[in-house]
Amino acid sequence: MLENWQRTHLCGDVKEQLSGETVTLNGWVQRARNLGGVLFIWLRDRSGIVQAVFNTETCGAETFAIGESLRGEYVVAIQGIVSPRAEKDINQTMETGKVEVIVKAARLLNAAATPPIYIDDNAEENETVRLKYRYLDLRRPSMQRTLRMRHQITGAIRRHMDACGFTEVETPILTKSTPEGARDFLVPSRLHPGAFYALPQSPQIYKQLLMLAGLDRYYQLARCFRDEDNRADRQPEFTQLDLEMSFVSPKDVQAVVEGAFRRVFEEVMGIDVRLPLPRMTWRQAMDDYGSDKPDTRFGMKLTDVTETVKGCGFSVFESAPSVRGINAKGAAKALSRKEIDGLGELARTYHAKGLAWLTLDAEGQVKSSFAKFFPQEKLAALLRVMAIEPGDALFFVADTPAIACTAIGQVRLFLGKKFGLLGENQYNLLWVTEFPLLEWDEAEGRFAAMHHPFTSPMDEDAPYMETDPGRVRAKAYDLVLNGIEMGSGSIRIHDSDLQERMFRLLGFTTEEAWKRFGFLLEAFRYGTPPHGGFAFGIDRLVMILAGRDNLRDVIAFPKVQNASCLMMGTPSGVSGDQLETLRIKALAE
Ligand code: AMO
Ligand code: AMP
Repeated sequence: MLENWQRTHLCGDVKEQLSGETVTLNGWVQRARNLGGVLFIWLRDRSGIVQAVFNTETCGAETFAIGESLRGEYVVAIQGIVSPRAEKDINQTMETGKVEVIVKAARLLNAAATPPIYIDDNAEENETVRLKYRYLDLRRPSMQRTLRMRHQITGAIRRHMDACGFTEVETPILTKSTPEGARDFLVPSRLHPGAFYALPQSPQIYKQLLMLAGLDRYYQLARCFRDEDNRADRQPEFTQLDLEMSFVSPKDVQAVVEGAFRRVFEEVMGIDVRLPLPRMTWRQAMDDYGSDKPDTRFGMKLTDVTETVKGCGFSVFESAPSVRGINAKGAAKALSRKEIDGLGELARTYHAKGLAWLTLDAEGQVKSSFAKFFPQEKLAALLRVMAIEPGDALFFVADTPAIACTAIGQVRLFLGKKFGLLGENQYNLLWVTEFPLLEWDEAEGRFAAMHHPFTSPMDEDAPYMETDPGRVRAKAYDLVLNGIEMGSGSIRIHDSDLQERMFRLLGFTTEEAWKRFGFLLEAFRYGTPPHGGFAFGIDRLVMILAGRDNLRDVIAFPKVQNASCLMMGTPSGVSGDQLETLRIKALAE
């Protein structure tokens, strides 16, 4: 159908060097303007936009009539001569703005209905409509750029993994529940009525079995599925770079992952990342930043004042196991009482019972929610420990160490954002190491795996697994970028006895553990190499590098907040016949 109309060039490549040449272009009409005897058509393809000019004198009446019929998003082929524009007609905002194509002939390839959104990066379109017509939304140059960037990132990663001797192996999508801590998506089986496959939350068990199988170095750009509440940095299906290695210690795994990040930053962003990346233990991250994914782009570190406030007379502080504070330098004047109250609300959403505050103005005047309870010398000691200077604002939370650190850490982040301390174009990558093996699950009244149940305890802590589980640290490590968890990994348990002990700690009886993970415990009996690995979120990495703040912007066909796809209308009902075949009765319509 294109016959002689196949393009010779891409629109974005039509520049001065082609002046005088005849080109054939294929694309969409970005904009059509009719100035009487002259038509200006902006033609767009994946490379950019160029102006085509229809003029009755140069193209003849028939071609001009085709030009006149063109509307936004019509698909056309044009043939014409590249011609430099007169100085006064140069469009500086257009990459191809120094030239235009004088049309000799044109052919309409496909007409278009009026699109429900403008295909233009500057148009403020409602996101619901954009997502419903995602295929039109993706025509926008910024969306195309992001998808191409994603492709560059995955390309750089694949090249790195290849150079490091990894083998890419695909693992099943129809599988069994993997314990990553989220809810599974289930797929009913027709051949086994009443039985279900689970979509993988990650390829975790398969990759460990691949180590048993002797693959030694495995990786995969793996699609993962988790039925959890969507957030800006969470989608129900997402992509990981998933990897596993045999005969390694944490630093070997970290070196491969760091190398992948360095390559991505270099090839895609032109930024040199210095290796090895900084490392911080989980304990230090919690103590200094109140988070296991610290944003180290700014200071405002937490101070532990538990000892300082002993005997201060303020019962809130004295009766709590821990008191942590921050000094927001120079913030005293910038924060209104209402904003300070707002910070209290923020702390409360992280389970703090309140937020104590103190400001010191330039004249040395103290305002505070708690100073009146303090004797003079105790207050002086506290202010000294907090290194207060005129103009500063102090905030404190008194609670368990976990709540105090987390709540004040969130106040710190909020203030960092508010005062513009999160440097743009600054990428702070770091390893957080030595995570606790377990965390107490209040609702269930038992310990749960902090990472997943295959994570190895640190050798020196393993003896305490039964007697003091809370103190056991794991050979687990996270990679953090600007306060976002990019990925996590660990050295795994490769011994079936230790794995059984771990399952018992998590509340499984031996029978239950064998029922759920029997194939793994069985496999471990046949000579398992020590192994470890890592996985990081590709979508999250693209989101940060593309400067976006929602994963939706970097996924071609994403789901919205309530996990539906507005374009396809999924999830959707199915026919009664289909349900019958599966022997399923739907309770809700
Ligand atoms: P984890 O569960 O920490 O580890 O996941 C690794 C990384 O995957 C990304 N990620 C997500 N991205 C988008 N939407 C989600 N819902 C989502 N959930 C996770 C994050 C996260 O850091 N099997 C282990 C890894 C291992 O031990 O090797 C695992 O999946 O960037
Ligand atoms: P009150 O005596 O209840 O008026 O509390 C005095 C100040 O202490 C108020 O600013 C409260 O927000 C704050 N406060 C109360 N509980 C806590 C807590 N657990 N940690 C820090 N500040 C608190």
